Amino acid sequence: MGKAQILVVEDNRIVAKDIQNSLENLGFDVCASVPSGEAALEEVQEQKPDLVLMDIMLKGEMDGTEAAAQIHSRFHIPVVYLTAYADDKILEKAKVTEPFGYIIKPFEERELNTAIEMALYKHKMERKLMESEEWLSTTLKSIGDAVIATDKTGRVTFMNPVAESLTGWQQEEAKGKPLQDVFNIINEETREVVDNPVIKVLRDGMIVGLANHTVLISRAGAEVPIDDSGAPIRDENGEIAGVVLVFRDITERREAERALRESEEKLARSRKMEAMGLMAGGVAHDLNNILSGIVSYPELLLLDLPEDSPLRNPIKTIQESGMRAADVVEDLLTIARGAATGKDALNLNILITEYLGSAEYQELQKTHSFVGYRTELSPDLLNMSGSTTHIKKILMNLIANATEAIGNSGTVAISTTNEYLDEPLKGYEDVRIGEYTVLKVSDDGSGISPKDIGRIFEPFYTKKIMGRSGTGLGLAVVWNTVQDHNGYINVKSSDKGTVFELYFPVTREELAAEKDEVPLEGYLGHGETILVVDDEERQREIAVGILTRLGYKAQAVSSGKEAILYVKENPVDLILLDMVMPKGINGRKTYEEIIKIRPGQKAIIASGYAKTKEVNLTQELGAGKYIKKPYTLPKVGLAVKQELEH
Ligand SMILES: Nc1ncnc2c1ncn2[C@@H]1O[C@H](COP(=O)(O)OP(=O)(O)OP(=O)(O)O)[C@@H](O)[C@H]1O
Ligand SMILES: [Mg+2]
Repeated sequence: MGKAQILVVEDNRIVAKDIQNSLENLGFDVCASVPSGEAALEEVQEQKPDLVLMDIMLKGEMDGTEAAAQIHSRFHIPVVYLTAYADDKILEKAKVTEPFGYIIKPFEERELNTAIEMALYKHKMERKLMESEEWLSTTLKSIGDAVIATDKTGRVTFMNPVAESLTGWQQEEAKGKPLQDVFNIINEETREVVDNPVIKVLRDGMIVGLANHTVLISRAGAEVPIDDSGAPIRDENGEIAGVVLVFRDITERREAERALRESEEKLARSRKMEAMGLMAGGVAHDLNNILSGIVSYPELLLLDLPEDSPLRNPIKTIQESGMRAADVVEDLLTIARGAATGKDALNLNILITEYLGSAEYQELQKTHSFVGYRTELSPDLLNMSGSTTHIKKILMNLIANATEAIGNSGTVAISTTNEYLDEPLKGYEDVRIGEYTVLKVSDDGSGISPKDIGRIFEPFYTKKIMGRSGTGLGLAVVWNTVQDHNGYINVKSSDKGTVFELYFPVTREELAAEKDEVPLEGYLGHGETILVVDDEERQREIAVGILTRLGYKAQAVSSGKEAILYVKENPVDLILLDMVMPKGINGRKTYEEIIKIRPGQKAIIASGYAKTKEVNLTQELGAGKYIKKPYTLPKVGLAVKQELEH
């Protein structure tokens, strides 16, 4: 380090010269000598001296204390006063400016030296302290964990921004408050207040961690699960000066843990089902051979027995038992996966209607006259690909279970809908994105307890009395059949009743009988041009297919941006616009841009969701009808026709 640079502020030229000489004798550098406060500020700004030697009574507007105050606050340069006046008032005024020293004129060189050296040293130390404080506070501010420090009485002295946002307290307000006012923690399960960690740290003088299941209650009453630890702050003598608490919000971690656990459970469940299915299949195969004797011989015996033989009844009983056993074996064979039979396009509505006309259903109704049945079948239900016999078994089992769950009186509701999922549906099983035909069977019966719900699909799991009803194979058959059809099951149950929702992927294949049956006349177009905007390729194909069949000229693009470019070049009569396109701009934004190019552009909006705010907004901009996906011929046909004629 070179010589310390000193600025002298003194309005008496002779005195100034004298001071300058002394300073130079003492080995300092005088970078300038000025007569006024204003000039001093300018010099300071320009030269950045190491220290200012300041007279208090100066020429000009500004006196020395004022200049010193500004130098101190703006430039952080130490000021030492050097003045002839030492009355109390001036001293008082000078004190406020936090001077680094005070020398009374006339001074001795030695005195001057000591004052300057001390001021420089003090300033250096202060600067170091400031730097380390700044470093510490920036560090604490930028770490991701919340930090609260207290003094040794447990009162808050510091909070970083994360702590502020988690507790809802600002540091300024919290300072000086007892920790428990700001850091209010309870046990999530017992709801009891958790011991103040500061008291523990102060008592034991060690780092302590919080127990599991601790929740922080913020100032606004929000609950945040946290994980934390507290440690003592010790001063240089090793005495405890306070406590520092470090904690973090573990909501996300918990959520991840829960999701992992759930998916593990799901996996374990389906593994178990598979293993049991395999076993059931093995047993069934052997039993089937054995049973054929028991089922077919009584038939032959009965042919040979005279009408009045006392053996007829016992033999008939054997035959009936054999047939019941054969039914069970058949169920077991269904459960043994891989035994999938051929699949054809089928429509759930047709199978439901057939079931409702069957002798089996009539029998069920007869034995449960106190149960009412209600059906609500979607008129334009899409087809699925499946095995008629197996799907009928599903219907039979779900409707039988729903009926049996009703004790006194109640209703079983059977409904079908088309669903288009823009994003996976979370539930008992997570349903993937796509088009589904959904079967829903609900009842207002006894419900299934959360304890049982994980096991109901297991073969032989039953709560019913063993007999014909109560083998425990019904839902096992349902589950395996649904898996075999690449479908999903969602069960929801409470003491108010149970809902089984079965999702089957849609097939766009038509039923054999349907091909020439669909009455198109009402919907036919006359070669109008239609632009389909949809981010899913399959959806574009379907929509274009339907529109072409109806006699329109359809084109498709895969994003809002493309749509805007397309209509700029090619006017179209109508746009069929998908609302939700996560990768680009959504339907509303697209329409907003399009009407700038083609004011009054006709459009209909499609979405897998129920009508949303975005849909409303788009309609307010002038778009027409909203249709819920999946696209079906009557739905699209009607909407397009109405919109074009509108
Ligand atoms: N809708 C429902 N409401 C209440 N509980 C139900 C319902 N559906 C199924 N369960 C419960 O799940 C168990 C298993 O059903 P599952 O159909 O597999 O066998 P089951 O009906 O007992 O016998 P099976 O169908 O072979 O005659 C039932 O015993 C019942 O406890
Ligand atoms: Mg059953």
